[in-house]
Amino acid sequence: MKLIIANWKNKPQTAKEAVELFNKIVKNVQDVKNVQVVICPPFNYLSSFELNVKSLELGCQNTFVKKDETNDQKISWPEAKKHGATFAIVGHSSRRIFLSETDEAINQELKEVLSLGFTPILCIGETAQQRKENKTEEVLKNQLQKGLAGIANIDDLVIAYEPIWAISCGDPYATKTMPTKENISEIKNLIKEIVGNCKVIYGGSTNAANAKDFLEESGMDGLLVGGASLSSEEFVKMVKNI
Ligand code: PGA
Repeated sequence: MKLIIANWKNKPQTAKEAVELFNKIVKNVQDVKNVQVVICPPFNYLSSFELNVKSLELGCQNTFVKKDETNDQKISWPEAKKHGATFAIVGHSSRRIFLSETDEAINQELKEVLSLGFTPILCIGETAQQRKENKTEEVLKNQLQKGLAGIANIDDLVIAYEPIWAISCGDPYATKTMPTKENISEIKNLIKEIVGNCKVIYGGSTNAANAKDFLEESGMDGLLVGGASLSSEEFVKMVKNI
């Protein structure tokens, strides 16, 4: 069973648009058998959806690390859970880069979401510069070792390899450099060597045209889809083509 996760980030702009997008996706993927679909909308839209389809789950990101602390800047994971989220995106590159989130903070957040029964999606990936300097392996190892420190049970963990230089920044049709299937396959093996038996998925400029090839040729367990998940037609096509 492949795992296809829609990462809507902070879009669409209104709850009405989000519900429309969600309903169109649900209507078209509910009978799909070989794919588990997860939609990760902005937190404030979570409570707007009616989730009555088995093949679909909700997730979210951008939450606060502690379950019992009062904090007026972020959202708590228990709140996200109350509104139906079962998956949690942790350590996305936008948070590492723009919010300076450290591996240590990511590690705390992972422990928190695991204790609450979420399935965490830990995002890792190197910058273009690190890649140029041949540091990909070192960077990924470091992110995994620090991010997963002290975490024994990794059975339900999903690792998303998202090379930062391949992320489309919202435009699924942008012609950015993409890793080859061989690159991705090597990274998958590296992650499995370090972490063991967990799901490994790929994210970065995936769309309906390249999804199937990526999955088949790289052996990845699924995809984390940004820009292309904001078009119901594109996203549904991706899911159905697999
Ligand atoms: P993209 O985003 O599919 O638009 O490249 C992926 C991500 O940031 O998770």
